[in-house]
Amino acid sequence: MKTYSSILALLAAEQVLGGPVAANGKVSREAVVESVINSPFLLPPRSYSIFKSRFANDKSVPQDGPHGGEPAKPATLAETIKQYGYLIANLPGMIASGSTSPGKTAAPKSLVPAVQKLSSAQGEFPEAKRVKIRYGPYRVPPQSEENLEAQFWKIKGMSNALLWDAERPCEGNCMLLKATSDLEYADGSPANTSNGAWFHHTVLLNSGPSIKEPTCGEPYVESIMIVGNERTDGGYALKGSHIKSGYKVNPKDSFILQTELMNMEDTEKYVWQTITYEYLEGLQPDYKSGQTVYMTIGEASNPSVTKCSKTAKNPFGPTNMTIDALPLSMKFSEHSKVWNSLIDGRILKTAGHMHDGGTSIEIVQNDKVICDSVPKYSKDASAGMPGMDAGMGGKGGHSHGGRKNKRQVKAPGGYKNTDIEHIAGQNRCDYPDGIPLKKGDTMHIRANYDFNLHKGMINADGNLDEVMGIVGVLVAY
Ligand SMILES: *[C@@H]1O[C@H](CO)[C@@H](O)[C@H](O)[C@H]1NC(C)=O
Ligand SMILES: *[C@@H]1O[C@H](CO)[C@@H](O)[C@H](O)[C@H]1NC(C)=O
Repeated sequence: MKTYSSILALLAAEQVLGGPVAANGKVSREAVVESVINSPFLLPPRSYSIFKSRFANDKSVPQDGPHGGEPAKPATLAETIKQYGYLIANLPGMIASGSTSPGKTAAPKSLVPAVQKLSSAQGEFPEAKRVKIRYGPYRVPPQSEENLEAQFWKIKGMSNALLWDAERPCEGNCMLLKATSDLEYADGSPANTSNGAWFHHTVLLNSGPSIKEPTCGEPYVESIMIVGNERTDGGYALKGSHIKSGYKVNPKDSFILQTELMNMEDTEKYVWQTITYEYLEGLQPDYKSGQTVYMTIGEASNPSVTKCSKTAKNPFGPTNMTIDALPLSMKFSEHSKVWNSLIDGRILKTAGHMHDGGTSIEIVQNDKVICDSVPKYSKDASAGMPGMDAGMGGKGGHSHGGRKNKRQVKAPGGYKNTDIEHIAGQNRCDYPDGIPLKKGDTMHIRANYDFNLHKGMINADGNLDEVMGIVGVLVAY
């Protein structure tokens, strides 16, 4: 299936050759692709591997990975065409709409406006403009469809979409204070689990010639929001803080949306993803730049000094996880690699996200624990969907709905994942006065797990499923 390499060629043809910044002043798509591939923590692992597969010349189909399922089976060209005939026929559509499960018929038309001005008074920041933008439509395939995702990951009803040049709230300069995301149907009514639509996750990336991603210093692209089924807020400011901050959007910046949606039913759905932005027009010189630094345990670990190099050594000794992030023991404390601050700033808020079995994530600045983010367990929380609050201001968000069924098998201990309590949320630490962060300061995280205290998720093999520890730290620069 060499056809995928033509995607890169087509993208290249859109650009004026010769450098990461195209003639129109925007960053070329190739430069964005390269930066995202160099920064594996920007996207959830499976989305990252799909992203890579879309563009890698030598990888024609999604590869098995930490969150993969069955490895791809070798097939003859005839078999591939038989299985993926309509996918191949739809490749141009996949490039344009960027979906792994394009439809065979035309999508319905939206019955409500794509851009809706909302009341500022009802937002978190009444001084800001508030606008809701609808992106889509996104096709969410029926559970029984044998599409790319079903074939390669045994995940039913899933679509993974990439939208380039997603509409921005402003054309020139503006300052985002907050962003939230949701799903709707054509008529604007809510799409949620009660009617079969699972918002697995979305990541909003911004690309631009002056962007320097704060975690690794990678140029041209950064993650500015991650939202899942819990509808987390993406925040760039801490309400009530005297330190004014926001995310600066520049005229040459371009938004990219990576969205993964799942159908809980066997009927095809078309949904629109909404993002509601609260923002101030113009440059706002008295506002600092609010950006999120990410730290993770495991393979996506990210030391800034070595530009996210996977080869940097973890100073805390041998890992307690397999390469697929499965735990090696019942109780352990896993550390991230060490992040180095390259410039001065102030820490405004932070929080972590972990999986069942976790007892806390400590966020350490130099040698001092500045936040102990403790999960709250509840029997009412759905299996496999603990919340991620990456210091961005919400209650949850990084969900694992796509693997829900896999997790609900009977464990050797005789319990089902539906019988036990799950993480419902994790506390956030706010610093209205800001904690000074000096150039040369370090940060790392320590994720503490104890499966004797809290039962973990069990995978299809009957073993403990993967662990996760990710933290976002909002810094005002
Ligand atoms: C889910 O959608 C239905 C409409 O289909 C709506 O009545 C309900 O309030 C929504 N639930 C949530 C939690 O938004
Ligand atoms: C693995 O766990 C042990 C014991 O909790 C800890 O001392 C060690 O630092 C951990 N390894 C990493 C890489 O964090």
